[in-house]
Amino acid sequence: MSPIPNLKLNSGSLMPAIGLGISAGTLQEARDKAHVWIESALKSGYRHLDTAWLYQTERAVGEAIRASGIPRSEIFVTTKLAWHHHACVEKAIQDSLTKSGLDYFDLYLMHFPQAAAYKDNSFETPLDPRGFETILENPTFNEVWADMEKVLASGRVKAIGVSNFSIKTIQQLLKTANVVPAVNQVELHPYLIQEELVEYAKEKGIVITAYSPTGKAKILADPVILEIAAHHDATTAQVILAWHVARGVAAVPKSTNAERQMENLQLAELRPEDIQRINDLDRNERISNKAGLDGKMLGWTYEQLGW
Ligand code: A2P
Repeated sequence: MSPIPNLKLNSGSLMPAIGLGISAGTLQEARDKAHVWIESALKSGYRHLDTAWLYQTERAVGEAIRASGIPRSEIFVTTKLAWHHHACVEKAIQDSLTKSGLDYFDLYLMHFPQAAAYKDNSFETPLDPRGFETILENPTFNEVWADMEKVLASGRVKAIGVSNFSIKTIQQLLKTANVVPAVNQVELHPYLIQEELVEYAKEKGIVITAYSPTGKAKILADPVILEIAAHHDATTAQVILAWHVARGVAAVPKSTNAERQMENLQLAELRPEDIQRINDLDRNERISNKAGLDGKMLGWTYEQLGW
């Protein structure tokens, strides 16, 4: 089993290649209790935590870090700007800092390229973020990025990046950006390998982070991955996570279970032919954020998203 490497961001900082995904569903009670399993992950050795304003787990992240006794400087913490906060980036980052009780975040991502508004136009969100009312034309993500660059300059975040962006939307962003995104976090797993995006990001010096990285039960039971796992005396999650890292991609698997948290930090040592066989499983299949019956993913078509 291999140790977890660090990936160097274009900002100069180091990000552990495996982090803990910290979404906790739509029930506030579960979100408030997340500190318990975040703390267990820190005890297991996680030093990269991935939260978001929309997950409503920033408070739990701060609590777990303080309870762990681990110096803040040893933990890499990411949060994300909610899509209904695109017109109030300053207020949003301040709120994330206040909720978490942290002085800074290591990485601040624009969660989605699209901007949304809720019915009551409130800063707080309904428990289910899908309850948005309208997709807004303005501000554009280029304008939002300029505001995120100001937050970066203030030192309250050490790096900025994007999430759910494509080659098309990154190209559009780079037309006006002064700072190249450090990271683009996207859905990525063996059924959606995103080869072109991974190559493009490499050329631009952008690190790709995979969400839904194991592909959950369906891909964890794929016969090819089971076969590779048996060869290495590893679990299928350990094989899939090792495949991400072998591609130079970071991954943020979520697990609330202490044993599986530990399992996900121990990567199999894959042979080149294993990596090729996993690449060949690609079906361009999304399992997390995908278009609904209206042909749109949270209000945008795949064409708008560049997916
Ligand atoms: P649990 O929290 O009970 O461990 P992803 O991060 O790829 O979206 O996957 C999250 C889901 O996968 C969670 O339901 C989590 O359940 C489960 N999971 C995470 N790690 C493993 C693992 N090593 N083996 C099996 N299931 C896992």
